[in-house]
Order: sequence, then structure tokens, then C-alpha cells
Amino acid sequence: MEELKKRAAERACKYIKDGMIVGMGTGSTVKHAIDILSKRKLRVVVIPTSVETEDRCREAGMELGSINELIPDIAIDGADEVDPEKNLTKGGGGALTREKIIDYRAKKFVVIVDESKLVKHLGEKHPLPVEVLPFAYERVRKELAEIFEKVEKRDFVTDQGNYILDCYGKITNPHEMELMLNNIPGVVENGLFTRNVWKVVVGAKKGVKTF
Ligand code: 5RP
Repeated sequence: MEELKKRAAERACKYIKDGMIVGMGTGSTVKHAIDILSKRKLRVVVIPTSVETEDRCREAGMELGSINELIPDIAIDGADEVDPEKNLTKGGGGALTREKIIDYRAKKFVVIVDESKLVKHLGEKHPLPVEVLPFAYERVRKELAEIFEKVEKRDFVTDQGNYILDCYGKITNPHEMELMLNNIPGVVENGLFTRNVWKVVVGAKKGVKTF
């Protein structure tokens, strides 16, 4: 599996050119991209999507920037699931909020996954993470439990100090669901990504596929 993730990361890193501002996602697939990029010795400024990625990029000697000052030319990020319309669920690592802030603003957003992440319908294999304010998490959990089959609070605190509720069940209307969930008071962000994907790069046993 690591080999497939690495293949996808290698292909995606070819889109990164000298002088670019790069949004850098979070997770095990992105770790390969950071390693590959750091070996290429390009002059890039990296905008990290989590404290974990920030630490890793700093250790690799990369120059760091902020979304407050810069717009990424490209963002490279992983996903938990990808459907045929290039809709995603993200947030397995709990970084969905910063990821969406950066990935949605990138001029080009490249998703890197191994082939096990491809699904017909989102929600097939992984729950949908929803970041909520601790102040109202139990109230929001009850409301989400009316929409989803099961909702579980993850034993995890996000970089913003919030909680994650993992919501189980197939999602047939990702775009409407993304907007609807963010309309619930107490929800900070949800892990449905239904906009701005430029390319999905898939590391497969038979090679790398891009769509
Ligand atoms: C983190 C994410 C990750 O991109 C997603 O969970 C995929 O991770 P991995 O590459 O480790 O499978 O959304 O919040």
C-alpha cells in the first residue's frame, strides 16, 4: 500500500515547479510527497494544512507561508474516499478544516490516493468526519444521528481545539450534504470536498492513473 501511495505522490510532485506556492495536505500519502519534494531542492513556499505537516516541512528545511498572505499555485492532498465525480471525503487525520481552507483556494488542487480509496458512493468504506465546537458537540451529535446511520465522537482534538464526529452511512448527494452540514450551528466544517479538484492521481498495482 505504501508503494502505491508513493507512486501517486511521485506523479503529483511533477506538477510542482520552481517558485511555486504549494498547499501541503496531511496524512501518510502526503508524507511521501513531502519527502519527494524536499529531495528535489526546488525553491517553493509551502502552506501546511496541519501542525503535523508544518513540523514535517520545517524539519525538511522547507520555507513556510500562510494562507493569509499567499494563494497556493497548487495544493497536494490525500483523501479517504473518491467517487467517480471527483467528490471526496477527507478528515481521516482530523485536519479537514485547514485542508479545505487551503485546498479550495488553490489554483490547482491535486488529490493523491492509492486505488483502495476509489468508491462508487462516498461513505461506503469510511465515515464522514465533521468538526464541531466542544461547546455544543453532544447537541450536534444528536442532530447528525437523525441524518446518518451512526455518529461517533472520535477520541481526538483538532488543531483548532475542536472535536470530530464520525458519521456513518452512504452519501448520495455530496454537494447538497456539504452545504447542509455546514448550516448546522456548532459545525465548524465537514469532510466533504465537492469543488475545485483539478486532478486525482491514483497509485495502482498496474501503475499510476490520473483522472
Ligand atoms: C487528513 C486527511 C487525509 O488526507 C486522509 O485521511 C488520507 O490520509 P492517508 O493519506 O493517510 O490515507 O484528510 O485529514
